[in-house]
Amino acid sequence: MLEVVPLWLEYYGEDVMEVTPKKYREHILEEYQVIEDRNARLGEYVSLDKRYTKLLIVKEHWQREEKEHEIITRGRKHAELMAHQTSLTTVSVLFDPDRNRESPRTVVLLGAAGIGKTMTARKIMLDWAAGKLYQKKFDYVFYINCRKINLVTAQQSMADLLLNNFPDGVRPTKEIFEKPEKLLFIIDGFDELNSVLSMEEVSLWSDPFEKKPVKTVLCSLLRKEVLQKSFLLITSRPTALEKLKQNLKFPCYAEIRGFSGDDRKEYFHKFFGDEKKATQAFNFVKENEMLFTMCFVPIVCWIICTVMKQQMERKEDLAQTSKTTTSVYLLFLTSLLTDHFTDSVQQSKTTLWKLCSLAADGILERKILFEEGDLKKHNLSLSTIHTLFLNKSIFQKDTECESVYSFIHLSFQEFFATMKKSLSSKKDVNSLLKIYGPSKNNYLMLTVRFLFGLLNKERLNDMEKKLHCKTSSAIKLDLLKWFEAELELFHCLYESQEEEFAKSAMDNFQEIRLEHIRLSTMDEIALSFCVKNCCSKQSLYLCNCTVVLPPPSSGGEEGRGPTMHPHLPPS
Ligand SMILES: Nc1ncnc2c1ncn2[C@@H]1O[C@H](COP(=O)(O)OP(=O)(O)O)[C@@H](O)[C@H]1O
Ligand SMILES: [Mg+2]
Repeated sequence: MLEVVPLWLEYYGEDVMEVTPKKYREHILEEYQVIEDRNARLGEYVSLDKRYTKLLIVKEHWQREEKEHEIITRGRKHAELMAHQTSLTTVSVLFDPDRNRESPRTVVLLGAAGIGKTMTARKIMLDWAAGKLYQKKFDYVFYINCRKINLVTAQQSMADLLLNNFPDGVRPTKEIFEKPEKLLFIIDGFDELNSVLSMEEVSLWSDPFEKKPVKTVLCSLLRKEVLQKSFLLITSRPTALEKLKQNLKFPCYAEIRGFSGDDRKEYFHKFFGDEKKATQAFNFVKENEMLFTMCFVPIVCWIICTVMKQQMERKEDLAQTSKTTTSVYLLFLTSLLTDHFTDSVQQSKTTLWKLCSLAADGILERKILFEEGDLKKHNLSLSTIHTLFLNKSIFQKDTECESVYSFIHLSFQEFFATMKKSLSSKKDVNSLLKIYGPSKNNYLMLTVRFLFGLLNKERLNDMEKKLHCKTSSAIKLDLLKWFEAELELFHCLYESQEEEFAKSAMDNFQEIRLEHIRLSTMDEIALSFCVKNCCSKQSLYLCNCTVVLPPPSSGGEEGRGPTMHPHLPPS
């Protein structure tokens, strides 16, 4: 036997090496057990199990309540007529049979930027491999990263697409695909695909071993043309939902709503691993209402904890408070730069500028993975500073392996890109807004929110003082012409934190009408900031909107079960 294996290898190449289910699990366990923690000390790894904190996940149930004639008489959109109910759920029951006793085969896990979609996808891989999740349900669970799909130019088969999941030199074999009903594919970050997948454009394919353009392969998987009976879990920001829907058959929806008040506390303890420090940091945050509210987003918790840890190590007072997402990101940036560029202001400025240009270059084309050539174009070498904000990973392009880079989180690319835009010409900003355009709910949403945030006078001062970038707020008024009286405008105005600016924006509207919206705590905060800056003659109508009341003890977003919401009558 010992002699036979090498002979086989010699004849067929390494490709025929097979992986047993046990070996596959062991490999996944190894690959997913740690995550890299970006902070002042590079290359620090933490255990995913030890860091992962419970997230609130709700399942969405849609029920058609109103009658067909109302669509016509009131002229409302179909979607608005669906009564939207939610109930708390967990990852372990996502594929359990529903009321009709059918297991959903396609589950879409939605969530805002940094809310924990990728973390959850990785945790599912880990828990499955460790024998803690979906044991009877799935023989194999595969992870597909949409970001990496953007770079594939050569034709690939379904099996090629899964290569990243396997140990080096091992390929998926026919046996693995023989029982598709025992397979789960986790497709992470649908919103990060740079080209729009459209069913009309691609012809679907059903052979997992036949090479086709990667779009065809992915569409065929989403559409269940290939491996029909397999299960899919797709994560995405809600901004890409419409496009995603067009590609799916009978999907079910769940949404990650972030950390409850108690989860936030638990996160701080997991992060610091030291009772005293965790309590000190948590109490500080708890006393700042806005900061604490924003901590429902895990990435905000992570930024705040990272910055506080550094402040504690430098024996500084925990002084800085932030009210907006923009200021949290800016705080992180200045804090990391302070640690790394103690003596060279000029160097930190040039490096930062290069990073911002790289980010901005990518943002409109939705380029999220950068190759060595892109870095060279911006004169970026991989010195410490870049490795603080850029992740390196290996990508198998055709037959060769290449290093590729992405920002530590997509939201950081969006933030850096906005910094570049806020420092560039009016024309540049306007071209961005033109693409952002009338729909608002698109891939530029966070970028535009950051833009409002950065054009705040204090932020501009911060940028000038700490990062030595000079800019002006002259373009600010231009931004308003792209908005109507809509919820997203209120968020942008809140992000700007300027009362005068909010007043002049709100002056444009006599009447503001919000209908069929489930208002989160953050929505309410943004809304009340804007209402405060309205004059007495303006009216606000909230029709069939639901509100989330804070829980009695823990405070903040979604702390209690989000099932029952009072309906506000029109005011
Ligand atoms: N459940 C969680 N427990 C602990 N940290 C989390 C959790 N979810 C997210 N994070 C932190 O937030 C960051 C962003 O989360 P990620 O999953 O990448 O967000 P996205 O929803 O954009 O994919 C992670 O790198 C991690 O630091
Ligand atoms: Mg992600």
